[in-house]
Amino acid sequence: MVKIGIIGGSGLEDPKILQNPTNVNVETPYGSPSDQLVEGTINGVQCVLLARHGKKHDIMPGNVNYRANLWALYSRGVDVIIASTACGSLQENVKPGELLFPDSVFDRTTGRKSTFFDGSFEEAPGVCHIQSHPSYNEKLRQVLISTAQKLNIDHHTSGFGVCIEGPRFSTKAESIVFKSWGASLVNMTMMPECVLAKELGIPYATTALVTDYDCWKDEEHVTMEAVMKVFAANVEKAKNLFIEAVVQISEVEWTDEIQRLKKDARNSVMVAPD
Ligand code: ADE
Repeated sequence: MVKIGIIGGSGLEDPKILQNPTNVNVETPYGSPSDQLVEGTINGVQCVLLARHGKKHDIMPGNVNYRANLWALYSRGVDVIIASTACGSLQENVKPGELLFPDSVFDRTTGRKSTFFDGSFEEAPGVCHIQSHPSYNEKLRQVLISTAQKLNIDHHTSGFGVCIEGPRFSTKAESIVFKSWGASLVNMTMMPECVLAKELGIPYATTALVTDYDCWKDEEHVTMEAVMKVFAANVEKAKNLFIEAVVQISEVEWTDEIQRLKKDARNSVMVAPD
């Protein structure tokens, strides 16, 4: 039976989606994850929930220990990981309140530790040149998409996000340039989670919850208040998606996919000859 890791972004840290929740303290070679993990079940499927910004939401995007978060889930034996992330929209047709299942990401973060293989850890010897395409596991992405379809949730099936360092929002100049690149979304946490999951050979896909139009439009620009308001109005939708997605994921056979990803990850590592 598959075990599912869930990384809850802003507003989706809520362990109440789990039945029989148990807090688990985990330490990793990479330090402490954002908070205790919460293990439990959703409709009989084993899940491990991690609040990306901590349960009190006190860790800003650039200070999240992404490596410890991913390693912690890996050490608890999760087979696949689904995540959520609040995003601004860079395109008129991607409206606040909708979901988007990104197929790629443009990394504009600075200085985040984005590999396990940095020469400092015996758990990860060598140098890992992991493929960044596809950024998200397509099989898992399709399960999320079909779940949104089943639940009649307004969503977009493709598009890429620009991940900025934050914690500030973009300037208007930045927002207009990101839009001109063809990006659908802007956010602060899409990187480096997806590449770290790849290094571990774990299928990973994310759900973008669109909260605002950033600041490229003349008539409106993003504020924290606006983001939280749209979030609060739509968080149930995202929760329902995850609850149903967990069931759908558990009905899919993952063995071959995981074996393929683990092999890709192994083959991406260059180790010095003896
Ligand atoms: N998260 C939610 N809205 C955002 C925006 N406009 N820019 C960056 N991150 C966001």
